[in-house]
Amino acid sequence: MLVNRPPMGWNTWNTFGAKISEQTIKETVDKFVELGLPKSGYEYIVIDDCWSEKERDPITHKMVASREKFPNGMKAVADYVHSKGLKFGMYSCAGVRTCANYPGSFDHEFLDAETFAEFGCDFLKYDYCFRPQTANGPLLYHRMGNALRACGRDILFSACNWGADDVWRWIRSTGAHMYRSTGDIVDNFTSFTNIVKSQIEKFCYSAPNCFNDMDMLTVGMFGNGNVGSSGCNLTQYKSQFSLWCLMGAPLMLGCDIRKITPEILELITNRELLAINQDPEVRPAFNAEGVPYNTESCSAVLARLLANGDLAVGFFNFCDHEIGATVMFENIGFPFAAGYDLKFKDVFTGEEKIYQERLTCRLDACDCAVFRVTPVKR
Ligand code: GLA
Repeated sequence: MLVNRPPMGWNTWNTFGAKISEQTIKETVDKFVELGLPKSGYEYIVIDDCWSEKERDPITHKMVASREKFPNGMKAVADYVHSKGLKFGMYSCAGVRTCANYPGSFDHEFLDAETFAEFGCDFLKYDYCFRPQTANGPLLYHRMGNALRACGRDILFSACNWGADDVWRWIRSTGAHMYRSTGDIVDNFTSFTNIVKSQIEKFCYSAPNCFNDMDMLTVGMFGNGNVGSSGCNLTQYKSQFSLWCLMGAPLMLGCDIRKITPEILELITNRELLAINQDPEVRPAFNAEGVPYNTESCSAVLARLLANGDLAVGFFNFCDHEIGATVMFENIGFPFAAGYDLKFKDVFTGEEKIYQERLTCRLDACDCAVFRVTPVKR
């Protein structure tokens, strides 16, 4: 299976946690389609933990969907998702139990992959709780990687070991198409900025067929739901979504799609930002501040080469007071003497302006500015 761009979709965990059901999935899918999210590229509908019965079937040893939450079985849910032109994702764990204490796939990897294929599953998130201490991470992900490749269905393999065991060193070899690289996000500004700070220098390991996954977005949750926490404001969500786009991370939405506000819908369907996230060359963003990246600093300036010869440049304020952030063009490879100025197109307003040598942006608390940048011969 080829996965050339960061995967996009929605996952149940952030909002619903264990409170999932056929009904909530159907309502979400209906709204998803009504809002036109598939047209923006969002395609996977993923059911996270807590979907199964507490024990395997005693005779077949297969996992069984919760009879209470999914009375018509999982295939019926997959069929519904497919009938709307979307793809269907599920969840399991490399350990003996999942993180929320449902059956895990340890020592049942091949049987479970076959079961997921029978359900009509197109995506598997694979967690790391309750693994036997004698089992090593790479081997466990190799097992499920092989099981998925052998099961007769194309299933995107989404690893979730939270960055443990230097995951970036070995995860690509297991067949995983994306890999969680940090602990769990919760819906507040500190949580997502800490995730970003820990990954700014790790995106050089992210590339087609195995993308660094900074976790499901909390954009639009406003403090509600399973990982609700204190919530974020619209400015903070603008920064979160911009960071995920600029850094080329998978875009898995986590808010309650049924209750999405117009401002959030506009943000998550911003064409310029999505084009940066899905850029065909999928090159990593780099630190453009001209000094080594410092996690204590309020600012981050990230740049990224795009396929058509443009660059994306983003200025981010990680503090709750106004700051200025600067990019000297020489620090992104355009020395003044080269004879190029840079045209900056604001991805939010569409405004274009040409600058020489440098650009300094004033950023309100927690805010960002993101541009598509074209070199212009002087
Ligand atoms: C772990 C994962 C989360 C979520 C929960 C489910 O914590 O990192 O993303 O899947 O398990 O229990």
